[in-house]
Amino acid sequence: MCGIVGYVGPRSAVEILIPGLARLEYRGYDSAGVAFWEEKGIAIIKQAGRIADLERSLARAGVPDARAGIGHTRWATHGVPNTINAHPHRDCTGQVIVVHNGIIENWMELKAELEANGHEFASETDTEVVAHMIEEMPEVALEEAVRLVMKRAEGALALAVMRSSDSQLLVGARRGSPLVVGRGEGENFLGSDIPAFLEHTRKMIVVDDDRVVAIRPESVTVTDLDGNPVEAAERLIEWDLEAAEKGGYATFMEKEIFEQPKAIADTLRGRIGPNGLVRLTEFAEAERRLREIDKVFVVACGTSFHAAMMAKYAIERWTRLPVEIDIASEFRYRDPVLDRRSLVIGISQSGETLDTLAAVRYARAQGSVLVGVSNVVDSALAREADAVLYTRAGPEIGVAATKTFTTQLVALQLIGLHLAQVRGTMDEGTIVNLVQGIRRLPASVEAVLETVPDITELAKELADTRDVFFLGRSGDFPVAMEGALKLKEIAYVRAEGYAAGEMKHGPIALIEPGVLVVGVATDSHVRGKTLSNMAEMKARGATILLVLAEGHRDEALSVADHIVEVPSGPDLIYTVTSVVPLQVLAYQIASARGLDVDKPRNLAKTVTVE
Ligand code: G6P
Repeated sequence: MCGIVGYVGPRSAVEILIPGLARLEYRGYDSAGVAFWEEKGIAIIKQAGRIADLERSLARAGVPDARAGIGHTRWATHGVPNTINAHPHRDCTGQVIVVHNGIIENWMELKAELEANGHEFASETDTEVVAHMIEEMPEVALEEAVRLVMKRAEGALALAVMRSSDSQLLVGARRGSPLVVGRGEGENFLGSDIPAFLEHTRKMIVVDDDRVVAIRPESVTVTDLDGNPVEAAERLIEWDLEAAEKGGYATFMEKEIFEQPKAIADTLRGRIGPNGLVRLTEFAEAERRLREIDKVFVVACGTSFHAAMMAKYAIERWTRLPVEIDIASEFRYRDPVLDRRSLVIGISQSGETLDTLAAVRYARAQGSVLVGVSNVVDSALAREADAVLYTRAGPEIGVAATKTFTTQLVALQLIGLHLAQVRGTMDEGTIVNLVQGIRRLPASVEAVLETVPDITELAKELADTRDVFFLGRSGDFPVAMEGALKLKEIAYVRAEGYAAGEMKHGPIALIEPGVLVVGVATDSHVRGKTLSNMAEMKARGATILLVLAEGHRDEALSVADHIVEVPSGPDLIYTVTSVVPLQVLAYQIASARGLDVDKPRNLAKTVTVE
């Protein structure tokens, strides 16, 4: 994530950049900064913390009277969220200034080249390579220099760049990460998103991938990476500010559900090697100890615990290591048998959940190896761990976890396969096939999202249901648990997630007409058994909704009242696709009941009490 703003025109740039950044704070908020022209060159003011902190610092120093500048609000992906790593970044001379959103996958290689040429780096970020690369081209026009950078940089990136030699020019570029231009009268704007400038203009230009845009007070020029001019259509924005902050979606949760294909793609970025195997540089230092472990524990709370459940199935199957999972608040009080050869994986999107932190600290005291999975760079969990894999889902504002959960599943799949590689428990061909499956997930989740209108219709039909069971086996069991939790959290419907085979040992007594049973049956060796269990529920009068891997409709017609099909793919990996309809179902039932989906009652996004 991260938010970029830019302004060039007759007004006070900083007074436009700061409110613009505040409007983009939903994209990240761990540090912020601005750069603007002064008499002596370009000045940068930046710091860790939120935009309001930056605003206070600027107010104390006296708001500078500059006519052009760029700003950034950060959601860290490389480098801890401190002041040095905050954007803007500069070259060695301080003449080239850059803000960036996205991930430059080959930044280490670029950095090594630049360091060999004598460049000195101030920060730990991938972004800084861009400033030094442009510094290497002092005679080249800034637009052209940015085009050359875009040709060498791999990955998703949106940039805004300024150079002290031209105080009327901002250059933007985009691939993968968003960038829009706001067109004003004698002034122009850049932003990661429309809210950055919506209070000043309703005219905008969407910058397409692999385009470079040069903006001056009176002109906007868009070119491709070879410098050919490109026609860029101007559009009129019809959204109001609130709608624009939610990207046109009704709620943040809905927006976050739809962001999942991109979030999963970001989780994967740079983590699969050219040989098709998993490549986790994050684990390089812990590698030796990972080779020696003989047992795995996974600890987490809430939705993250459901990711832990999934991890158990995957890691045991792929590595043949025994895996125990624990709700974090139970872990340390049950006196688990841990030692130096135990690997403890803590999962927490916030990285601040007190119970999870207490659990991993307990494990550290026993000398175990700690791996963290978190969405927040430099969170308490990340600092505690020997190695951490960030999910890179961007900030999640809706209290109920969606994109942080699916990206946790993907991160854990990568960890499971990495362990299998390190320990040699699977042949490479099999791993490569599974990795290919993981790579297809963003497109498959996108395909599931196309069925939202059908699920919405279904949700309206089912909105009055008061008793719901979610059932699955194997990797579909955690999905069922998560489906039930989503419905409880945001729609306040009593719902239970259960292992499908366990129903007959008690809960089946609750099945009668009027009860809804949601079955999850992806492409696994136990699909047939799940379908039999669903038939048992139907025979007792339940209404059956089945989330089913495509290609199996015929087997399911006799047991299901409703079927939602999801793409087929490798077992345990494609469970990710079956979570999405359940998120949508809960969301739409809650919406049909008129509830505040983003802020459900009694819940907090991060729980820092025991
Ligand atoms: C809270 C949230 C849940 C979340 C849980 C764990 O209860 O409401 O959505 O799953 O905390 O959060 P974590 O940040 O540790 O993943």
